[in-house]
Amino acid sequence: MTLQVLETLPALRSQRAAWRAAGERLALVPTMGNLHAGHLGLVTQAKAHADRVLVTLFVNPSQFGPGEDFERYPRTLNADLEALASVGCDAVFIPAVATIYPEGLPPRTRVCPGPLAEQLCGADRPGHFEGVATVVLRLFNMAEPELALFGQKDYQQLMIIRQLVEDLALPIEIVGAPIARAEDGLALSSRNGYLTAAQRALAPALHRALRALAEGPGGTWVERCEGARQALEAQGFLVDYLTVRRQADLASPEADDSALIALVAAKLGSTRLIDNLCFTRKDAP
Ligand code: PAF
Repeated sequence: MTLQVLETLPALRSQRAAWRAAGERLALVPTMGNLHAGHLGLVTQAKAHADRVLVTLFVNPSQFGPGEDFERYPRTLNADLEALASVGCDAVFIPAVATIYPEGLPPRTRVCPGPLAEQLCGADRPGHFEGVATVVLRLFNMAEPELALFGQKDYQQLMIIRQLVEDLALPIEIVGAPIARAEDGLALSSRNGYLTAAQRALAPALHRALRALAEGPGGTWVERCEGARQALEAQGFLVDYLTVRRQADLASPEADDSALIALVAAKLGSTRLIDNLCFTRKDAP
């Protein structure tokens, strides 16, 4: 099977029409490229859910703030195409900026995801989730998939996309996939490539901190998080947030909530890393 490379909207629409005519279900895996094992795992899972898998490679300018890494975000097209072919992906859509944003930038018609997008990463990166929701809606409308897959590493993003689908009544099933990790526990991310050798050696401390929070000794969540934050900062991290929330809505946990998630965002040098860990509360701080 050969990987089809689609670069224009008419090419995508014509391929989509052919799959539909053949009665085939389409799974979409939106990415910004620089694919790693986590992305390829999404493609493999997508194949189990659908007849055809389409990956999009688009470094979306509207989700980067001023001074962020849009310009230097790694672009590795040839390696990405080889990797997608190796896992049996059917097609890849590589749109130009003008295909996604024909009206220019900033986008004229935007999706405002509301309060869920204003906390955690949204507080540190104003406008980020508006850019994500806007591009994801446009990709959904262009590809018209039956389902779409996203990694749970970007847990807040996944919740915002679920909310987008629910609020706008989009006929698309959203599948969240478990976080892919390196052997030492570091969550796989395209931004890991920015780390120096010394920072890379330090980075798994984020995952260890989340596990310690979930499993560790008592105290309130605020006390536990503050202890974990201080420990990370003593190792050289600059912590943007480290918090425990409810899995269902990212609100602060109430006394009887048991399905919780610990989330962290922290910088090592200029590289911002995020990670999270879902867990069930055993005690009740
Ligand atoms: O998670 C990502 O890679 C991006 O935010 C996404 C969902 C592809 C939108 O640009």
